[in-house]
Amino acid sequence: MVKAWYLGTDLYQKDSEDVLTPEDIEKKTGVQILKMDVDAYNDDYRYKRIVEEKKLFFNDVYHNPADCTEEDIQFFLKEHIHEDDEVRLVLDGACCMDVRDQDDKWIRLRMTKGDMVVLPPGLYHRGLIDEYLQMLRLFENKEKWIAVYRPAADESIVHKNYLESRRAIAAN
Ligand code: LAC
Ligand code: NI
Repeated sequence: MVKAWYLGTDLYQKDSEDVLTPEDIEKKTGVQILKMDVDAYNDDYRYKRIVEEKKLFFNDVYHNPADCTEEDIQFFLKEHIHEDDEVRLVLDGACCMDVRDQDDKWIRLRMTKGDMVVLPPGLYHRGLIDEYLQMLRLFENKEKWIAVYRPAADESIVHKNYLESRRAIAAN
């Protein structure tokens, strides 16, 4: 299962004693965390539902090191948002995804084989590729997949809507 914790000062931190549960993460950020069998995820009803609901009919498998340049690593590390959900499943190896909580603090999600995440549109995040990785990436339209960086994305309507919806949920 995804291991999550509040990130300290070490950008390369891979583990912590002080973990958050998937329920904590969902409550704080709206991020969905799932565990898949990497040999059978295509038949998993949760996977199928996410694909159908979000129309994620395109995918690719991202490999480190095979198709990961230094430029990619820097791109993934820069804080950004997307206008669509970011759906990722680690097929092998590991990586980190960092997401901002409502107080703008980084929560690190350490992902290993079988870990899947759904990041909502407008949520600030970044990725850290720090070891061997094979990651399935799902897209509605890969050509239209763009990142909007901070601080420009502060003004994005998608980001504002995201914050608004988190506030509404927190108030209930
Ligand atoms: C991406 C991840 C790294 O946008 O956030 O592909
Ligand atoms: Ni992203």
